[in-house]
Amino acid sequence: TNTVKKIACIGAGYVGGPSMAVIALQCPNIEVVVLDINEERIKAWNSDKLPIYEPGLEEVVFAARGRNLFFSTDTTKHLGEADVIFVSVNTPTKMSGIGAGRAADLTYWEGAARMIAAVSKSSKIVVEKSTVPVKTAEAIAKVLTRNCVDPNVKFEILSNPEFLAEGTAISDLTKPDRVLIGGQETPTGRAALEKLKWVYAHWVPDNRILMTNLWSAELAKLTANAMLAQRISSVNAISALCEATGADVSQVSYAIGMDSRIGPKFLQASVGFGGSCFQKDILNLCYVCESVGLKEVSDYWYTVVAMNDYQKQRFVERVISGMFNTVAGKRIAIFGFAFKKDTGDTRETPAIDVCRGLLADGAKCAVYDPQVAPIQMFRDLSAPKYAWDRPHGWTKSENHIMESVQAVSDPYSCAAGSHAICVLTEWDEFKGLDYAKMYDSMVKPAFVFDGRNILDHDALRKIGFVVYALGKPLDPFLVRG
Ligand code: NAI
Repeated sequence: TNTVKKIACIGAGYVGGPSMAVIALQCPNIEVVVLDINEERIKAWNSDKLPIYEPGLEEVVFAARGRNLFFSTDTTKHLGEADVIFVSVNTPTKMSGIGAGRAADLTYWEGAARMIAAVSKSSKIVVEKSTVPVKTAEAIAKVLTRNCVDPNVKFEILSNPEFLAEGTAISDLTKPDRVLIGGQETPTGRAALEKLKWVYAHWVPDNRILMTNLWSAELAKLTANAMLAQRISSVNAISALCEATGADVSQVSYAIGMDSRIGPKFLQASVGFGGSCFQKDILNLCYVCESVGLKEVSDYWYTVVAMNDYQKQRFVERVISGMFNTVAGKRIAIFGFAFKKDTGDTRETPAIDVCRGLLADGAKCAVYDPQVAPIQMFRDLSAPKYAWDRPHGWTKSENHIMESVQAVSDPYSCAAGSHAICVLTEWDEFKGLDYAKMYDSMVKPAFVFDGRNILDHDALRKIGFVVYALGKPLDPFLVRG
């Protein structure tokens, strides 16, 4: 039969936590246990203050926790008892060795597989939830079968990549565009696919559950992220051209978005994409292409990352050149540090590169974000690239960063005494602030650099601000003769 009694998930992060909470809520008869090696994270999942911020997450967790949803560090017991094991560990970019800066570091994934092999006394379905390079399932199968103590135990590997977006995770999980499950085209592979499908069928309509072979599922996830990021880089490339020609990127996006082949979503110009996935997954895709000899394909996708770096750099240059080619000693208010609104996640946030660029030119950054803790900002600004994704990562901070960065707990004191405000995250609350009041407390000329195009630029100009908006006709004040 298709019945699943117990699900375990290795990795209680942004994906493991919310996705398992929704399964538990929708399937009250299945016991769901989320596991992590990070004790603090598990403690937080079991407390009133969850370790991640996501709209609607508390309601789901509080409804199911203690009923059929559990968070634990006891991997031996729960992995041993589960019929289905999701693996949702981090798969960061390698920092050193072969493929450094591009390839996926599968250390955590392999560690999880070895853990499963060591404790399994009955056959299991192992589900790849993490985003992994194509053909990872094959490697994982080898680790599992060669390490398992009991020869009668069989493992069936499925790929079930997660498409949720942070900030809308709960609605994405509750009403997914699609659920993708890849499996082996064998009788046992087919049976495993049907079992996992049965779980999702509790709340996802049949026509939204897609079943493919393993490699298609793995590659579909990398491709989806590459195409999404490519859309952002494409519109960002056009934003630079708009500024040079007097076109308005919002008007261009609106006009092209009405073409049903293009569609209106994800065409908003910005200071650049961030988040733990887009860059990592494209680099990973490039590396996979290179490994199979497809250099041209790899080069093609790499430009999406290069354009994103250019956009962040271009923003920093606009700020500096706009402020008379020097920001040395000037206080700059940074509005928003998270990589997008409605999340406290700062992994690969463009705010890191923008702040670093400004700090390198001697600016003092005052940072306000409604969801990011000061310690996180300091850690991000002083950590080497890609170090954030190590559970026991980076703690050292550089003194000059501590001296030049101030975390501020409200936007008005953040702006006070500043020469400029840079909007780096599109938090809704930034739209409703009293900018006239801030203007009065700032050094003149006072600037706004809107890296998300969310403010009312005409109203700001009336107050007296010099305004830069991405991809919009330039304020004459900002045009250097
Ligand atoms: P995360 O870093 O928030 O969570 C991963 C967790 O796994 C950490 O808490 C870590 O302590 C734990 N872990 C690592 N090795 C372990 C082991 N051997 N045993 C037990 N726990 C272990 O990462 P996140 O964001 O949840 O991402 C996980 C995967 O999902 C990545 O591959 C990512 O690319 C993918 N993904 C992420 C999305 C996102 O929006 N964050 C969306 C879709 C996919």
